[in-house]
Formats: sequence, C-alpha cells, structure tokens
Amino acid sequence: MISKPMIDAFNDQINKEMFSSHLYLSMAAYFEGSGLPGAAQWMHVQAGEEHEHAMKLFAHLVDRGGKVTLKAIAAPETEWNGPMAAFKAVYEHEQLITRSIHELYEVAQKEKDYAAQILLQWFINEQVEEEKNAAGVIESMKRIEAHETAVLQLDHQLAKRGK
Ligand code: FEO
Repeated sequence: MISKPMIDAFNDQINKEMFSSHLYLSMAAYFEGSGLPGAAQWMHVQAGEEHEHAMKLFAHLVDRGGKVTLKAIAAPETEWNGPMAAFKAVYEHEQLITRSIHELYEVAQKEKDYAAQILLQWFINEQVEEEKNAAGVIESMKRIEAHETAVLQLDHQLAKRGK
C-alpha cells in the first residue's frame, strides 16, 4: 500500500509530466510553423518521453494500490521569440521539474516509502540528462549565433569596399 501523501504527490507529478509533454508538443507545432522540422522532431521525441515519464508514475501508483487521479492540463504557451528562446524555456522548465522530483523524493523519505525512493532515483538521474540535453542545444545555438554575427561582421566589412 502507498500512503495518502505519496498518492497526492505522485498525482501532482503525473500532471506536471503531462504538462511537460503538452508544452513540448506546443513547441513542436511552433517549430513546424517556423520551417525548422529538425527542432520540431526533437520536441516530438521530448514530448513522447514526458508522456512515458507520466506513465511510469501512473504504473507505480497502480502497482501499489494507489488511485490515479488525472487533473486538467494547463494550456502551454504557443509562441516563442525564436529557437534560442524556446530552448532556454526548455532548460528552465526542466530545472523546475528537477526541483519538483527532488521534493517528491523528500516526501518519499518522510513517508519512509522505499519503493518510491528507488523509482524516483531513476527520475533524479533522468533529470540530469534532461538538463544536460537542453543545455547542450543552447550551447550549440550560441556557437551558431556567434558564427552568424561573424558573417554579419564580415558582410559589414565587405560593404566598405570602394569601386
Ligand atoms: Fe519528465 Fe523532462 O522531465
């Protein structure tokens, strides 16, 4: 059996993972409409992973005799100010989720729920990956932006050539 505080905390986290999936699907739609199918694909995969995260929590709750109670999923944003802004939003959202997972782990410690702690260790590791992936894309984009700036600077220099 699983305690009431754990059931509530798991249901809250299921909702956050479902929102994450919704958010990244919204980003996929944004990139599809921005002519960036690669970034859209990245978001589709990410959205699928978030759904899997929700299902892992769902299955654990069911296995332990807890009731899954789904809540409304908030509407995500639909527009971002370019790819960099979108990926920064991913990174910030993942940091939020990491904090949420850590809080959930603390509830499991307080409740002496060892089975949940073992499951949540997977999520703690997963969050390290999630933050690393988003930060990696941001770093790559910074390099591209620097490159574009260099091209613009060169263009500016070339424009100075007299006839
Ligand atoms: Fe399910 Fe991106 O954390």
